[in-house]
Amino acid sequence: MNNNIIILGIETSCDETAAAVTVDGRKILSNIIFSQIPIHQQFGGVVPEIASRHHVRRILPVIDEALRVAAVPLSRLDAVAVTYGPGLAGALLVGVAAAKGLAFALNRPLLGVNHLEGHIYAGFINHPELEPPFVALVVSGGHTAILYVPAYNRFELLGRTRDDAAGEAFDKIARVLELPYPGGPELEKLARLGNPASIAFPRALKEDLFNFSFSGLKSAVINYLHNKRQNGEPTDKGDVAASFQAAVIDMLTGRAANALQARDTTKLVLAGGVAANAELRKSLTQITARLYCPEPALCTDNAAMIACRAYYLYKEGLYSNLSINAVPSLSLGEE
Ligand code: KG4
Ligand code: ZN
Repeated sequence: MNNNIIILGIETSCDETAAAVTVDGRKILSNIIFSQIPIHQQFGGVVPEIASRHHVRRILPVIDEALRVAAVPLSRLDAVAVTYGPGLAGALLVGVAAAKGLAFALNRPLLGVNHLEGHIYAGFINHPELEPPFVALVVSGGHTAILYVPAYNRFELLGRTRDDAAGEAFDKIARVLELPYPGGPELEKLARLGNPASIAFPRALKEDLFNFSFSGLKSAVINYLHNKRQNGEPTDKGDVAASFQAAVIDMLTGRAANALQARDTTKLVLAGGVAANAELRKSLTQITARLYCPEPALCTDNAAMIACRAYYLYKEGLYSNLSINAVPSLSLGEE
């Protein structure tokens, strides 16, 4: 295969309209993100219909900007990649329609990418030396899962959350603590003011090697705040945030340690929006010296990770058909 494969990646699964151009998967020429966070902030969360409308408005300008910054003409693209799931149906459709149109018009392969696989492959961008096999811990707003990645293009699901995703739990507890949306980064900031050992919140599914559960923890925090209010006692929100965060991190770190041991590897890739949490990264470095984590801008949703993932599909000729559709509940490592 000739070198310098240039791929345009497109990502519209949730509330970021993003496009990126990469060379040979791991080198970013441009990575443009139009974040809708300020638009959804007033509603306290992502409103799917509004997200779709803004994707429609922004998708072509964002693609144009990605090509302009990369100084790559459309004719130089080797393939067009797009997230086709999981995510919000109406949001995914915008990216999928744009990618199909471009691939068809340019007569180039279309590469449909699983968003969660994209998050894992973000680890390759900052770490040129990283190669499979490794264990991947995916912690995003919609998903929490632990996988074994034995080789490129292969994913083996070891465990996942039984209820809420870790990011979702962060966002819900941030909301009850009256922090602005998106709550994860705000909660992390508040937690710096508190003592993580001050409140003993529960750690669920202790006997389970790989699966997670966060809904019991969420209820415990809400009950704690409720009881304090009922008794007219003051609450230290910093302590609540720090103790909640410590419980989530304990559960994630414990399962990651189990997975590394079970698959006899020390390589751990941390992926997804919650990977931006510095305390989580610190905790994981205590179980392995070989933690691979993308820089914060590549942890949250972006299109560079989609183009990077797509490169390895391209190399094996794993092209998508132009009839590909959005798959909102696309799974990971279960096929
Ligand atoms: O991967 P992502 O950008 O979108 C999804 O695919 O879900 O993840 C967003 C999630 C949100 O729940 C957000 O609150 C959380 O990642 N998040 C964090 C931090 N930064 C983002 N959670 C905890 N600490 C952070 N620093
Ligand atoms: Zn994501």
